[in-house]
Amino acid sequence: MAMSAQAIEARALRKTYDSTRGVFRREKVTRVALRGVDLAIERGELFGLLGPNGAGKTTMVKIFTTLLLPTSGAATVLGLDVVKDEWALRRRIGFVFGGERGLYWRLSGLDNLRYFADLYRVPPEVSRRRIPELLERLGLAGRERDRVELYSRGMKQRLHLARGLLNDPEVLFLDEPTIGLDPVGARELRVIVRELADAGKTIFLTTHYMFEADAICDRIAVIKAGEIVAEGTPRSIKTLVEDQGVVEFEVVGLPRERLDELRGLPGVSSVAVAEHELAQLVTVHCARPSEVMTQLSAALDGLKLEKLSSREPTLEDAYVQLIGDAET
Ligand SMILES: Nc1ncnc2c1ncn2[C@@H]1O[C@H](COP(=O)(O)OP(=O)(O)O)[C@@H](O)[C@H]1O
Ligand SMILES: [Mg+2]
Repeated sequence: MAMSAQAIEARALRKTYDSTRGVFRREKVTRVALRGVDLAIERGELFGLLGPNGAGKTTMVKIFTTLLLPTSGAATVLGLDVVKDEWALRRRIGFVFGGERGLYWRLSGLDNLRYFADLYRVPPEVSRRRIPELLERLGLAGRERDRVELYSRGMKQRLHLARGLLNDPEVLFLDEPTIGLDPVGARELRVIVRELADAGKTIFLTTHYMFEADAICDRIAVIKAGEIVAEGTPRSIKTLVEDQGVVEFEVVGLPRERLDELRGLPGVSSVAVAEHELAQLVTVHCARPSEVMTQLSAALDGLKLEKLSSREPTLEDAYVQLIGDAET
């Protein structure tokens, strides 16, 4: 079938912002937010765009949701062009931007949803059924008649999500959905987002928390200063830094030739020895630390190892290496 399988696609997508600086001698400044981004996201994927503040995440979401025009390049959602097919596209997507705005605090949660359902032209017979379903699914049932100003931060964000789902969108965009939530509220929201993806929705979410991307996303792209610097499953991105695993132990009387044997083990990239009182503290940087651990006793035959520990490389190691010292 030659049907376009991609839910979201960007080709050489560029965005620059022009502004002026100075009061008397006004100077034009151009800031490049996206430097030619290529991306393809399949239907049903939970895709995470991970990057530090100022990397271009919100800019990208605004372009995909038709709130901002690209400077050049192309972007499509469900095969629809963000510039030419703006209105057809909007009917089939939902979006939620982080932050507190966009709800009527003096109204109840239910009245907010009714108001937005009207605004989005959801037929009344559909919204009569869908609103209670959404309240139930997002854990707001029972509190729907309370004014929003009485809701916790987590409940407000779940109501935002309900608003974004009123038109039963095929693709949902979430810009830093857990920002400002306490850990419990953030975890509840992540569970709901994962459930929505498991139920078949395509989800594009942005985050600057690498553990969040690792926890729920099928695939992630890391963006730095307007450029994608890595893309893949969380696991495949971890393999970029696989030699950053560490095995440590203490030993007494380690002969030099044993050390060379250690350096020759598969996956070992470096071995450092520090004198520690009467013992030697040995640090082995390696891929697959658990495999290295099992080979240690053979390589160091007869020596007694103390305080043996290991650490697998984490997505955080990969993230820190990828974004370097960009602001986080
Ligand atoms: N309206 C704007 N005018 C000028 N520069 C902007 C504007 N919006 C964003 N930028 C700049 O574009 C870059 C990307 O911003 P943004 O997309 O908000 O990043 P993120 O969401 O990853 O924090 C930043 O350098 C930011 O300062
Ligand atoms: Mg942002």
